[in-house]
Amino acid sequence: MPDSGPNSRIPGFYRLPIAERQAELLRRAGLSPDQIGVLQSGGLDPGGADQTVENVVGIYALPLGLGLNFLINGVDRLIPMAVEEPSVIAAASNAARLVREGGGFSAQADESIMTAQVELREVADQAKSSAAIAAARVELLAKADSALPQLLRDHGGGCREIEVRRLPNQRLVVHLHIDCRDAMGANMVNTVAEALADQLATLASGKVGLRILTNLADRRLVRATGRVPHKALAGNGPVAAGAELAQAIEAASRFAEDDIYRAATHNKGIMNGIDPVVIATGNDWRGIEAGAHAFAARDGRYKPLTIWRVEGDHLVGRLEMPMALGTVGGTLQVHPGARLALRILGARTARELAEIIGSVGLAQNLAALKALAGEGIQRGHMTLHRRATEQRS
Ligand code: MEV
Repeated sequence: MPDSGPNSRIPGFYRLPIAERQAELLRRAGLSPDQIGVLQSGGLDPGGADQTVENVVGIYALPLGLGLNFLINGVDRLIPMAVEEPSVIAAASNAARLVREGGGFSAQADESIMTAQVELREVADQAKSSAAIAAARVELLAKADSALPQLLRDHGGGCREIEVRRLPNQRLVVHLHIDCRDAMGANMVNTVAEALADQLATLASGKVGLRILTNLADRRLVRATGRVPHKALAGNGPVAAGAELAQAIEAASRFAEDDIYRAATHNKGIMNGIDPVVIATGNDWRGIEAGAHAFAARDGRYKPLTIWRVEGDHLVGRLEMPMALGTVGGTLQVHPGARLALRILGARTARELAEIIGSVGLAQNLAALKALAGEGIQRGHMTLHRRATEQRS
């Protein structure tokens, strides 16, 4: 695939029969014809399913659609989205086209730092115990690294930092911050937590409690920005109408910033874009959801994960949230559909994948706010619901 990615502008794509859409996808993403079979079947056969979970009796399917028009960090991306809700994919594609007119999304993901927690109980002197752990830092970091798979160390991963937090009721919690590179890393960091727990308890003169990762991966954030010219928001109308809509979208953002009930729905709209790509790429969407909502409430008040403001003659949106994803290991080992989705995206690293998915979340949110601040959600939504019902009948 060229570095600029496949052209993701495909006017009239939605009008093509499915076979022609598949052919277009194959051509643009440089896939081989046998990969059509993976698209048809969903990729997972009963044997693969049986290797994945317990008591398998079948396979549950979701539609897989393509989000279009995404230009992210200067690269065109076709976005595979596994989702059952009508209008999500069309809305994301429309919003991506608007952001494209402002130069596309720019996104940056942090290093892939996952955090394991080791809870220590019955710690009589928190200050003394914290100091003892801090004094053993170098030894603990080395021990953590030796518990990690060689493969991860070969790719530059490892334990980066140890942090001690004090909790009520004579508890300490030790955070082990581990760079998991292109793995999501849950198993790795849990292994490290278990490997270090006894030594930490001895150092703290306490007892071992829980040893498990936190899904509040706040050292593994993604930030995405999208700029939409008022002219693009105006469509065929006068620029002033676009400026007015931009103001209305900013007002909708401020509503979510001021009200938790609205913030919950605002964030649901963001996750409408994020979850389908997380699912399509075989990643843990429950972990992403948990991280998103804990981050939204990190300072004690639940807030929106995006903010929209009018800046000159542009509407500018910014998203920030945890994004713990893998492009190796986990479901990808057994799920050809997930591997194909990654291939379609052209994401080579977990950070690149996070940057793409953060941008999709921002696009989805723009689409929702634009509809809500303009014509209302029901019009576009209901047209697509009607289409789905007609197709079924
Ligand atoms: C519907 O699935 C999502 C929305 O409610 C999001 C929002 O209100 O921002 C439209």
